[in-house]
Amino acid sequence: MSDTIVIFGASGDLTSRKLIPALFQLFLKGRLPQEARIVGVSRSDFTHQKWRDLLSQSTRQYVGDQFNETAWSEFANRIFYHPGDITNSESFSALAKLLAEIETTESSSRIYYLSTMPQLYAEAIKQLGAAGLADDRHGSRRVIIEKPFGTDLKTAQRLNDSIHDVFREDQIYRIDHYLGKETVQNIFALRFANSIFEPLWNRRYVDHVQITVAEEVVVGRRGGYYDESGVLRDMFQNHLLQLLMITAMEPPARYDANLVRDEKVKVLHCIRKMVGGDFANQTFRGQYEGYLSEEGVPEESETATFAALKLYCDNWRWKDVPFYLRSGKGMSCRTTQIVIQFKQVPHILFGAKMREPLGNRLVIQVQPAEGIQLHFETKVPDSDMKTRTSTLDFSFQNQAGEADLPDAYQRLLLDAINGDASLFARSDEVELAWGIIDPIIAAWDSPAAPELHRYATGYWGPSEISDWMQEQGREWFDVCPVLN
Ligand code: BG6
Repeated sequence: MSDTIVIFGASGDLTSRKLIPALFQLFLKGRLPQEARIVGVSRSDFTHQKWRDLLSQSTRQYVGDQFNETAWSEFANRIFYHPGDITNSESFSALAKLLAEIETTESSSRIYYLSTMPQLYAEAIKQLGAAGLADDRHGSRRVIIEKPFGTDLKTAQRLNDSIHDVFREDQIYRIDHYLGKETVQNIFALRFANSIFEPLWNRRYVDHVQITVAEEVVVGRRGGYYDESGVLRDMFQNHLLQLLMITAMEPPARYDANLVRDEKVKVLHCIRKMVGGDFANQTFRGQYEGYLSEEGVPEESETATFAALKLYCDNWRWKDVPFYLRSGKGMSCRTTQIVIQFKQVPHILFGAKMREPLGNRLVIQVQPAEGIQLHFETKVPDSDMKTRTSTLDFSFQNQAGEADLPDAYQRLLLDAINGDASLFARSDEVELAWGIIDPIIAAWDSPAAPELHRYATGYWGPSEISDWMQEQGREWFDVCPVLN
């Protein structure tokens, strides 16, 4: 049995920046199957050798010190290139011929990785089906689909329908690279491999949850794409809702792709629907100053580059606990963090001598400075009963002898090769997520849209967002991670 990974969109940025470096690193670790081959497909007129040379340069750049000349030559022998046009059926019959030539074993597992323009996903799937390339009688056939998966519920449903015409759901791997991050998977370990957190992980003890994905970068050259998308489609429908699902889900009976995803999907079913004034009260949008001068952005654009949402998950565990989700470009620093803010003690013992305690806080640092911190009150030495916040700090970086955290794509590619879809989005998950985001986008496009707040880059979004939180008796955890 051999394994072939066919990448559509071979000359694109994702392939050279992420996919090939990840496959090469898996190869270096001895984790790629022995007989694995990679076939790149795109319209550029490369030969096998030309593509190998280009990848050699880019991989060298992206893997840095780990690049090893001898290993690369061995790896490069497994790389092939096929010039092809997704809209042309002859390209697919020629691809089928090439695959038959290079797959020397009778049966072969294949992964088709769609890293092309999203408008071509449905066509690529149709062509794969028509060319007989989805036929899995002689080995598994899986398809990996990059984000964005649709631009709203309707387009996502349509895309799901066209994929299901050719592939069964268990053959489909929808990527959200956040699920490939070690620290996101570590939330499963934190919650389900420890007994001390679970009793506290609910409405009795948790005041609220903050999920922040802040980016220091601005939109830059991606203006054309970004303006159509905005922060809700670009970050919330996928990454932030994924983080919410993993934080809020119930423990599955087993760590099994469908059981894990069943539990995640239940969280989306619980999200309280916003109606009427909720859109003004529970959603907040901003745009950084200078966005309108980005290349490809229309002068009058009202696209949000920052958003905050207050969501409720109506179930027994979380009823009335707000989940604050926020994300923006042009912010103070790059940080993705989940803060579980616990309730204050019920009765303050130390009277005026004790400053009002902030309540305990568990901070999950997803990136950079990957780790977990527990904030708790301790007595200030040599004082009466004054307290201050102290921290128990776990950092992945400080684990002696531990290698650097692998890039998300290594894990995701390996899981797809091994047929484990736990860290990929299922069709119902993607559609339910759009069902949450679509009404907010519609409200923001309506005459009753909440104000679009402008903000200077380099801070934590519009200053009004702090007032918004304070009016609710709460504070954002605006702390940039400390990198060693
Ligand atoms: C992508 C978005 O999905 O995620 C980008 O399209 C964003 O706009 C990126 O910058 C963030 O990913 P990461 O892994 O750098 O947090």
